[in-house]
Amino acid sequence: MRLNCASTRLLCCLFSASAFALAFSGCANKAAETGPSGGGSSASAPIIVGEFASMTGAQATFGSSTDKGVQLAAAEINKAGGIDGHQIAIHLENDEGQPDAAATAVKKLITQDKAIAILGEVASKNSIAAAPFCNSNRVPMISPSSTNPKVTQTGPYIFRVCFIDPFQGTVAAKFVTGTLKAKTAAVLYDKTSDYSNGLQDFFQKAFVAQGGKIVLVRTYQAGDPDFRSSLTTIKAANPDILYVPGYYNEVGTIARQARQLGIKAPLVGGDGWESPKLIEGAGGPGGALEGSYFTDHSALDEKDPVVKKFVESYKAANNGQSPDALTGQGYDAAGVLFAAIKAAGKPEGGDYNTDTFRAKVRDAIAATKGYAGATGDITLDADRNAKKSAVVLQIKGNNYKNVIATFQP
Ligand code: PHE
Repeated sequence: MRLNCASTRLLCCLFSASAFALAFSGCANKAAETGPSGGGSSASAPIIVGEFASMTGAQATFGSSTDKGVQLAAAEINKAGGIDGHQIAIHLENDEGQPDAAATAVKKLITQDKAIAILGEVASKNSIAAAPFCNSNRVPMISPSSTNPKVTQTGPYIFRVCFIDPFQGTVAAKFVTGTLKAKTAAVLYDKTSDYSNGLQDFFQKAFVAQGGKIVLVRTYQAGDPDFRSSLTTIKAANPDILYVPGYYNEVGTIARQARQLGIKAPLVGGDGWESPKLIEGAGGPGGALEGSYFTDHSALDEKDPVVKKFVESYKAANNGQSPDALTGQGYDAAGVLFAAIKAAGKPEGGDYNTDTFRAKVRDAIAATKGYAGATGDITLDADRNAKKSAVVLQIKGNNYKNVIATFQP
């Protein structure tokens, strides 16, 4: 689905009026754009940044949470005068959580909208589908939170501001063997998801390396409504824990059906569980996910002044609601990009959308070191990935963000 500025603005109003109003002042500037590139060749033309996200569909909270962070970052920089007098205009495309639509979205953002850089996606599958077009057109892309290694392996223009799944899977294995004293695990994963496929593999290897035994591995496909036949065999195998590295909507159903069948073992998952809809999908507070654990990106620690400022401005723009980890990742992906555009300097001839200028932006992103983000300090390694700590969260009542442990990279 394509969202032009007008429809994007309408949709955005539903989420958070003030941050969006500020961020989308870029849209209003659109009419005043001059120059054939649309990339900001006149003295006051906005710098166009594309964003592709799942604003609807099975992973809708991934897109909406992330976008709120992106919009906040854009609103802040625009309020402070933009970059060299140019406002940042975020052009958002909804990919509905579908890889084909993700690829189409970035094509449109790059060829029609003339975006000079791209932010997105959350789900690794969608980032993997879109990255080749960005890379071959030499348009830098930063994924806020796709953790599968393949995303940045696409090529030199593709970055992320989060850790990768070999680390996340190892953290899960260390936690369940070390803290939960698990000796055996069963694994149930989504075979249609690059993320789920990768993470279960990294978890299994690390679990075995920690001395654990995998007693059973079963698969499902995103959208499946019934997991009972797999869960029945899992129950018979009686594992100490059940590892389910999926996305929040299936996880809720899996948890409910597991408890109905009498599986008592804790469920353990990864960042794909992160959603304000997670607990609801598992039957509400105290329901099927009560006491279960998942690994995630930073817990936003408000003792840190950067985090405090982020949380406060987010709350002010969002009726007092707290941001989640995805929002923080979106905010930081945008922040790293804007810092890199600034660091790239003024483009020769004033046009921001040239191969030469985008290459400078690419180099500046690649050189990111110790960027003080809301989700922690961000330093990009030679593979264009961030090295960051992970947290283990436990679900208790209405709260899915109880920090149980933190693991350093
Ligand atoms: N890491 C997941 C993936 O790569 C996406 C995700 C990140 C989901 C953070 C929720 C929270 O597919």
